[in-house]
Amino acid sequence: MEIQKLKLSNFRNQKTKLFIFSSNITVILGPNTSGKTNILEAIYFLSLGKSFRARVEEEMINYNSDLLKIKGRIKLDAERVDLEAVLTRGTIDIGAKRLEKVQRKKLLVNGISKRLIDFAGRFKIVFFGPEDLELVTGTPTLRRRFLDSVLSQVDREYRRALLSYEKGLRQRNKLLSRIREEGLSRSQLLFWDRLLIKNGDYISTKRTEFIEYANKSSSINEMEFKLLYDKSAISEARLEQYSEEEISAATTLVGPHRDDFIFKVISDGNKIDRDLSRFGSRGEQRMGILWLKMVELSFIEAKTNEKPVLLLDDIFSELDRKHRKIVMDVSKKQQTIITTADKHFIEGLKKIEKINLLS
Ligand SMILES: Nc1ncnc2c1ncn2[C@@H]1O[C@H](COP(=O)(O)OP(=O)(O)O)[C@@H](O)[C@H]1O
Ligand SMILES: [Mg+2]
Repeated sequence: MEIQKLKLSNFRNQKTKLFIFSSNITVILGPNTSGKTNILEAIYFLSLGKSFRARVEEEMINYNSDLLKIKGRIKLDAERVDLEAVLTRGTIDIGAKRLEKVQRKKLLVNGISKRLIDFAGRFKIVFFGPEDLELVTGTPTLRRRFLDSVLSQVDREYRRALLSYEKGLRQRNKLLSRIREEGLSRSQLLFWDRLLIKNGDYISTKRTEFIEYANKSSSINEMEFKLLYDKSAISEARLEQYSEEEISAATTLVGPHRDDFIFKVISDGNKIDRDLSRFGSRGEQRMGILWLKMVELSFIEAKTNEKPVLLLDDIFSELDRKHRKIVMDVSKKQQTIITTADKHFIEGLKKIEKINLLS
């Protein structure tokens, strides 16, 4: 799988720009705030139909514009696919001080408009940025987002279940709050309970599958890691058990939105596992993250028969030499796009395409 070109119009600081990528490694070089992460954000958007950092999608539209476009040409084994995303602020200036209402978000495959769940997942990527370096020690949200971005790419039903679950969760929480505030009958919860249980089951089954896959994966640099799924199961019995607490908190207390997983590192001699976030050195934690990113690459390939494109956002400055070497070696195995502010990190790489954001 390959992205051959990317055309941006009014995507954050990129007014109109065309980027052509090598089939191997492309390095995007530029100082801070030159727009390196923005380019990877646009590529990510073509994969998942959403951003990994925008709080509201509108914020990606250039300050001086009402409309942005991302267009990418993707090469699969035998075919080429054109993916396009168009975002607006909901209205377009049609001159003479008149505004016309327009769709906020449009996703197209070969020029044909698609729903999010049908658009996402065609173009496979693995994104690795500075935030991922918190995967071991950071908040559970980060780890759930990780699971979702992997599983959403390989499974349309997962995308559907997740969207439905998130929507249902918001509705159920609203209802809990009305039960508390207005004394509304609890019977209305039943519909949402069923919806959350059905979709929640699917989500946790798929998360379990990913974690089992990871636990079968080989070690890295002679270190062995495991993931332990800390699952928040959702069922009628569990919802029943927490019903009083849920009403007083006006929030749903069980379900995959409360899931987590922990990293374990196996000490070679005695086969005892340690919790990597508590007992791992910084170097071991980094190695655990590199391992997980490789698992992500191989999982997507195993499930889809396509090698995902690897996107590395400014991570070399955060890694020491040993870890950099591992990442460099992996970069050669599929199309990889690397951003960096410091060109000495890429001096060892041969046969690379360079995009200099200042020239
Ligand atoms: N909607 C927008 N319109 C114009 N510029 C934007 C918008 N959103 C972000 N930017 C600009 O993008 C730049 C940050 O780009 P980024 O890709 O994070 O830089 P880098 O990764 O190279 O450090 C900042 O200068 C910021 O002002
Ligand atoms: Mg950046």
